[in-house]
Amino acid sequence: MKSALAAAGPFTPAQLVDRVKDALPSLERARQKGRDLEKFQSVDAVVHELEPTEPVFCIHPAELRAAARRFRGFPGRVLYAVKCNPHPAVLDTLFEEGVTDFDVASVDEIKLIHDLFGGRAGQYFNNPAKSRPAIRTASKDHQIRFYTVDCEGEIDKILDEAERDSDLIIAVRLATQSGDARYTLSTKFGAAPADAARMLQTISKAGVKAGISFHVGSQCLSPSAFEKAIDLVGGVARRARVPLHVLNVGGGFPAPYPGDNPKTIEHYFSRIVLGRRKLDLPTGCILLGEPGRSLVATAGTAVLQVVVRRGDAVFLNDGVFGTLQELGHPKERRPTRVIRKAGSPSSRLAPFRVYGPTCDSNDVLGAPFLLPEDVREGDWIEVGMMGAYSLSMRTRFNGFHTDRIVAVTD
Ligand SMILES: Cc1ncc(COP(=O)(O)O)c(C=O)c1O
Repeated sequence: MKSALAAAGPFTPAQLVDRVKDALPSLERARQKGRDLEKFQSVDAVVHELEPTEPVFCIHPAELRAAARRFRGFPGRVLYAVKCNPHPAVLDTLFEEGVTDFDVASVDEIKLIHDLFGGRAGQYFNNPAKSRPAIRTASKDHQIRFYTVDCEGEIDKILDEAERDSDLIIAVRLATQSGDARYTLSTKFGAAPADAARMLQTISKAGVKAGISFHVGSQCLSPSAFEKAIDLVGGVARRARVPLHVLNVGGGFPAPYPGDNPKTIEHYFSRIVLGRRKLDLPTGCILLGEPGRSLVATAGTAVLQVVVRRGDAVFLNDGVFGTLQELGHPKERRPTRVIRKAGSPSSRLAPFRVYGPTCDSNDVLGAPFLLPEDVREGDWIEVGMMGAYSLSMRTRFNGFHTDRIVAVTD
């Protein structure tokens, strides 16, 4: 079979260098597809076999499968938000469980999904702020037919840059009012109802299929937030009076982090069903959802080590510039457990301030960890429910980078 480089024809030397550079990231991705992750039976086995002095990130495929199955009850099509955890082993497992559509936000994510699944995956370019070259690549090289916007300028860009055919859909993202989510996204994205209605008319007048999307915010603890947002959609749809081809209810479904006690996912689905019933949507209108966190949160564990104990503070070998980025938020809690090489840690727990390994004083967790009062240098700390917004947020700041990733099969 001809390679993509050879198939593309003759180049000047400079063009060839550019082509090779373009091809490198995808070769790199192909190499680390993650289908052959080192496997361990349990987190304890990871610690006892590796005695790791660098952080190890464990992926639990069984948890991914269970989460994907829970989403089979979603009353529409499920797109996985790649940004949440783009590790190929995660994407592969979700794909095997039937999650074959993806919310992508960048050309890099588009290429990642393309390299892994080719034309078998559906891709939806739902970042409301896209560059013109990114739209061109998405449309011409990857045949993406679904785009999201939240202002007129972005509609113009898509009309200029994307291939126009009867499959092209542009969804207008509506800002939501929800105060029920830990991470409000509508401070950055989303149009006000009157503007959204005007945009729907612009899209429809251009002969393109129109849709509406929203995101109630991440880790949304109130199922009724979805119903309220769908009510808002109803008002916009009545104002715009154009046929709606898609209703995208976004992500935001919560993970069962300690202290958050979210309702089960079925409560969220039924509010979406109730909200949708009140709308007078055309029969062909497709319902989409784009969960990230709730599909992957329980499928990741960070295995870290105490580098220094200083009074009631511990310094770990990973922190907010690594996989613990979200734990900078004072409301974020995760299950933790200390694993000691020999002997057992004290059963009496005490709150510890937790610092990461870098020299930045912001490298500190927002909430204390409750740890055995005799926690000490060399102890390992298992931090559970770390599957979401962890691997995807890692930096190399100060030379620290978590890149040992294994599968745990229990
Ligand atoms: C457009 C879009 N869709 C889906 C998601 C996933 O949200 P969550 O992880 O809260 O489910 C996000 C998160 O930022 C997003 O921006």
